[in-house]
Amino acid sequence: MLLDIKDITVHYYKVPAVRNISIAVEEGEIVALIGSNGAGKTTTLRAISGLKHPTTGEIQFKGQRIDKLPPYKITALGIAMVPEGRRVFPQMTVLENLLIGAFLRKDKEKIQKDMEEMVFRHFPCLKEKKMQAAGTLSGGEQQMLAMGRALMSAPKLILMDEPSLGLSPIMCLEIGKIISAIHAEGKTVILVEQNARLALTLAQHAYVMETGDITLFGPAEELRNNGNVKKAYLGG
Ligand SMILES: Nc1ncnc2c1ncn2[C@@H]1O[C@H](COP(=O)(O)OP(=O)(O)OP(=O)(O)O)[C@@H](O)[C@H]1O
Ligand SMILES: [Mg+2]
Repeated sequence: MLLDIKDITVHYYKVPAVRNISIAVEEGEIVALIGSNGAGKTTTLRAISGLKHPTTGEIQFKGQRIDKLPPYKITALGIAMVPEGRRVFPQMTVLENLLIGAFLRKDKEKIQKDMEEMVFRHFPCLKEKKMQAAGTLSGGEQQMLAMGRALMSAPKLILMDEPSLGLSPIMCLEIGKIISAIHAEGKTVILVEQNARLALTLAQHAYVMETGDITLFGPAEELRNNGNVKKAYLGG
C-alpha cells in the first residue's frame, strides 16, 4: 500500500472536522473523495500533506509514519498538493510559479527535463505563456499551472483538491483527460471533487464523506451505480 490513513481524527480547535476515518491508497491508482460542502475533504488532504496534524490515528506513506512531519518533509518524500482555489502566485511569472514546485530539488538538469517532459508536454499553453504573470491566466490555465507546479516536485502521490471547480464543462473534460494522462505515466492520485460524475469516471476506488465521516467506499464503478450516490451526488 502506498498511503495508509488509519483511523485519524482532525480538529480545528476543539471541533473535529474529520472523525476516525481510514483510507487506503494502492500505488498507481486514482482514488476519488467525494462529499458535500464541509464534509472534511480538504481537511483530509491537509492532514496527508502535513498542513494540519491529526489529533489521533496515524498516516503511513510507503510504510513510513508521516503524520507528525512538517509539510516540506512530506513534499520531499513524494507527496504534492494541488490546493483548492489553485493558489498560484499572481504577480510571479508562470515559470517562477513552476520553479517554486521544485524548491526542494537540487538537480538543475533533472528539473529542466521535468519541466519540458512532464509539465510543458501536458500543458503546452504554459510553455507559450511562461514569461507571463500567473494572474493574467484564465481559470483553466491557472488550474493547469497549479497541477504543473505540483508535478515539479517529482511526486509519487498527487493530492488534487477540486481541480474542476469553476471551470467550463469543456475545460473540466480537458482537466480530466490530463489527470488520466498523468495517472497513466505512473502517478498515484487522490482526487477530491464536487463533480462526482467526473471523479467516479476517472477513479478506480472512491470514498464518500459526510460531516467528517466516511459513509461509503468501494470500487468507483460500484459507487456510480449505487442508488444513494446517484440521488445525492449524480443528480438522480
Ligand atoms: N481553518 C479552519 N478553522 C476552523 N474550522 C475549519 C477550518 N477549515 C475547515 N473548517 C471546518 O471543518 C469542516 C470541514 O471543512 P473542509 O474544508 O475540510 O470541508 P470540504 O469537504 O473540503 O468542503 P468544501 O467542499 O466546501 O471544500 C467544516 O465544518 C469547516 O467549517
Ligand atoms: Mg474543500
